[in-house]
Amino acid sequence: ELHRELSGIVAMEQQLKEMFGIARVIIVTGDADQDMTVKQQLGKEAAQMLQQLAKGKDQIAVTGGSSVASMKEYLTANTVLSDANFIAARGGMGDEMTFQANTVVSKFAKRCGAKYRTLFLPEHLSEQAYEAMKDEPIIKEMIELYEQVDIVVHGIGAAQEMALRRNSTYEEQQLLEQKGAVAEAFGYYFNKNGDIVHHLRTIGIQLEHVNKAQHVIAIAAGSNKAVAIQAYFKNAVKQTILITDEQTANTILER
Ligand code: G3H
Repeated sequence: ELHRELSGIVAMEQQLKEMFGIARVIIVTGDADQDMTVKQQLGKEAAQMLQQLAKGKDQIAVTGGSSVASMKEYLTANTVLSDANFIAARGGMGDEMTFQANTVVSKFAKRCGAKYRTLFLPEHLSEQAYEAMKDEPIIKEMIELYEQVDIVVHGIGAAQEMALRRNSTYEEQQLLEQKGAVAEAFGYYFNKNGDIVHHLRTIGIQLEHVNKAQHVIAIAAGSNKAVAIQAYFKNAVKQTILITDEQTANTILER
């Protein structure tokens, strides 16, 4: 803690918190782009925070992504999280199984000895498919769960990178660029003013559910994400606790 004080990290946390108007910012030392262990530290902080916030029997919605997935090793059994229900916030994403919300919740639940709920659907649905799906009992149940979510844990991505990862078509990528999308979180794309410019038509957690959640933990770091993080927090979900690294915080504060 003394090191954090002396290196000015505590002051940066305060500055960022005020800049974004959110509940809290936690900065881990180092640069996730340069040092692989920094992502683990982000995961560790997020896992500890989640454990502190949980009260027992919490409904916890979790997105995919490598940053959120890095919490896994720091979650342990026989804590208040053993009574939680980990809910996949979205269907799937791209081809990378390891970091999909479905995989992440099952791993988190296993670590904690908790329950989990998955949702296996394509991220892109045609309007017809979407309309037909949303009346299915299993989907209705999932939407009801999203409405009762206590805690949301999510990543923030740079828009173009996320579009690539989702195997978006060339047309969609062009569209995102035209609309000035720079950030992505739980299926929403935001421009640099934090306005929603695109939203995937899919069954998954919606911004209104995130807004209603008691606590929100966002994990994001990397120089390629500095612009995305700034944009996303322009219209911030106020109860968010952002966990990032020193290099990213420096980049944002110098802007
Ligand atoms: O929504 C954004 C993604 O979850 C970010 O994924 O943590 O692997 O960069 P990442």
